[in-house]
Amino acid sequence: MTRLAIVTGSTRPHRRGRAVADWVLTTARKAASEGVEVELVDLADFALPVLDEPAPAAWGVYAHEHTRRWSEAIAAFDGYVFVTPEYNHGVPGPLKNATDHLYAEWHHKAVGFVGYGVNGGVRAVEQLRQIAAELKLADVGPQVALSTYTDFDYTGVDLTDPTVTGVFAPDERHADDLAALLDEVTVWSRALAPVRDRSEREPAAAHS
Ligand SMILES: Cc1cc2nc3c(=O)[nH]c(=O)nc-3n(C[C@H](O)[C@H](O)[C@H](O)COP(=O)(O)O)c2cc1C
Repeated sequence: MTRLAIVTGSTRPHRRGRAVADWVLTTARKAASEGVEVELVDLADFALPVLDEPAPAAWGVYAHEHTRRWSEAIAAFDGYVFVTPEYNHGVPGPLKNATDHLYAEWHHKAVGFVGYGVNGGVRAVEQLRQIAAELKLADVGPQVALSTYTDFDYTGVDLTDPTVTGVFAPDERHADDLAALLDEVTVWSRALAPVRDRSEREPAAAHS
């Protein structure tokens, strides 16, 4: 069994991220071949505080129940799709904080990125690719870049109301990008299984 998680990158009330993540989840479940399971991992359900562990995650020793819960959730998967907005030209704080809470749980797994923002969230995704390298997450090339202008429908919406996000209506051209991304995340998640097995047998020395 290959298990994939769709991970939300934002947690704020009235975020656009959940609608995007639900679209990725539905598409991934439809596309999933035999032996592939896809689940949503919504950061908002974990209420992680700003990193408060005394030891670096590379030690794998967690003092807090919220970290152990997050660790168990992430360790259960072989690959991930991060659904991320761009905040101030970079990675949103909640997602960076969530990645920093863990270390070995991410190792030798695959990750793909669905970004959204004024320019498709591309600057956040570029930063996440650097972070992925340190976490030994193999990032796949295909990427989805959604526009908060053209991939949401604001018909009849009061744009001065901060609780209104518009209705997510992705342009159909994104379907091919998402299909390619999901295919590569699946293939790489499977291909890295022997590497994960090897590192379970021979754990690397912790670094600080
Ligand atoms: C703190 C903050 C910073 C933002 N900075 C950017 C930015 O640099 N580039 C961009 O394209 N959009 C930016 N936006 C707009 C977001 O793309 C838009 O609000 C999006 O819906 C955020 O994702 P969320 O609704 O899931 O939180 C920013 C939004 C917030 C809340």
